[in-house]
Amino acid sequence: MATNAATHHTGQSKVPDRQQWSGQFGFIISAIGSAIGLGNIWRFPGTAYENGGGAFMIPYLVALLTAGIPILFLDYALGHRFRGSPPLAFRRLGGKLGRWAESIGWFQVMICFFIAVYYAAILAWAASYFIFSFTQKWGDDTAGFLIGEYLQTDGVTGGFLSPVTAVLVPLALIWVVAIIVMALGVKKGVEAANTIAIPVLVIAFGVLVVRSLFLPGAADGLNALFTPNFEALTDASVWVAAYAQIFFSLSIAFGIMLTYSSYRKRRSNLTSPGLVVAFANSSFEIMAGIGVFSILGFMAHEQGRTMQELTEEGGIKGIGLSFITFPKVISEMPGSALIGALFFGSLLLAGFTSLISILQVISGGLQDKFDLSERKAALVMGLPVAVVSLVVFGTKAGMPNLDVVDKFTNEIGIVLSAIVMMVVTMWVFRKGGEFAYHLSALSTFKVGRIWRFFVSVVSPVVLGYILVVTVSSLVTKGYEPYSGTLLNVAGWGSLVVSAVAALIFTFGVRWKRDPLAFEPYPSYPPAPAPRPALAQKGTN
Ligand code: ALA
Repeated sequence: MATNAATHHTGQSKVPDRQQWSGQFGFIISAIGSAIGLGNIWRFPGTAYENGGGAFMIPYLVALLTAGIPILFLDYALGHRFRGSPPLAFRRLGGKLGRWAESIGWFQVMICFFIAVYYAAILAWAASYFIFSFTQKWGDDTAGFLIGEYLQTDGVTGGFLSPVTAVLVPLALIWVVAIIVMALGVKKGVEAANTIAIPVLVIAFGVLVVRSLFLPGAADGLNALFTPNFEALTDASVWVAAYAQIFFSLSIAFGIMLTYSSYRKRRSNLTSPGLVVAFANSSFEIMAGIGVFSILGFMAHEQGRTMQELTEEGGIKGIGLSFITFPKVISEMPGSALIGALFFGSLLLAGFTSLISILQVISGGLQDKFDLSERKAALVMGLPVAVVSLVVFGTKAGMPNLDVVDKFTNEIGIVLSAIVMMVVTMWVFRKGGEFAYHLSALSTFKVGRIWRFFVSVVSPVVLGYILVVTVSSLVTKGYEPYSGTLLNVAGWGSLVVSAVAALIFTFGVRWKRDPLAFEPYPSYPPAPAPRPALAQKGTN
């Protein structure tokens, strides 16, 4: 809770006000900062290309409209109505009889823990590459440089935890800055960081995309990205990819948007800002696709090769795209140093504003349960998280562990969390009507039956199917090229640890303050409107 918070009376107990954004703008810019991240720049372009190109827009839009935006609203309703981080919000949802519901919140906190530890490592690489851009230190063999020289990894072995100084130094710096931002709190830390970083990001990335459009070969790249392959739509894995992309990219179902909306003022327009955030996120994502594929088209043109050959070689997604293919293209482009700085600087800014949102979930959970100030929570959370991040991801085993944890937390952890969240709120506690009323009460865009239908029926069914497909594929086929041991320890292990920790935090640790001493606002069901006859009588 805020150290300088005023208190107000709710029922018999005094409950400190939560920290708050300065206003609607502060919330929107921070939510956009959270949504736009590595997912947009390094995941979306390659995912779209591999999963049907232009035709991918269909599952992408379906996923956005049927699951993305409805679950974003559900996150907002939970966080704002119950004014809490995930553990507190779910504890309040559960009420007197449903103490167990809190564990859903802690599971989301744990997912954020596992994402934060590797997400920061990618930012550390981006920071190093930002500096390398000025001299193109990666040379001609960009893959050899990344794997052999910079990360010093064999790319597949997970247990080799010997430190790599070139990664450890920027990683430690990222953690110092992130912990300072967290300690400054929601308004002076998170909101201030986003207010500075997001405009800079949009300008830097905008310049890069516009520049890329004028490169020779850009049109071929765009053709490759947007030429639709409708056959891909019959493949279940394309739909899985679209839903996973939307979830990670919109920062939904793992506590972030829930936590951010808990810091909004009582009287807040909830749904319209949600649409603004979702629209901004998708626009940025598509813009990233255009920029990245224009640049790849230029590379193919320069080397006299087809896009197909190019993508098979260095990778057009994730690590391969950002740290192998891109450095190579950057070296070939006029004004390499500037282009490199713009690209890696954008990656760093976009990722940093997402990292702090992921950390705010953990910090918010600890603040609520243990009644800590934001400063104490930043240290209590930040130090252990930073240590795990440094010890695992600042080593020769960083890259394979990162890839495996990323796969399992995103494709299983977040999807599972989304399903449980929807089933528990809509079917177990039957909050559909109350939440629709809460979302609409002060919002310009009202939600009702259609929203309830999506979050209680459509999304749980579709996501349930997706989860079964993903789990059975991981169980039967594994995840190439990694060993069973690495998948068991880093992959399944992170999910089991999340579930066990969630139970321990729920049933083994006491709340410092009565979590149920609060008053939802506005009250539900709404007071009946005065009957016309009585109103008539009053005026006579
Ligand atoms: N939404 C964030 C991203 O896209 C987590 O990277």
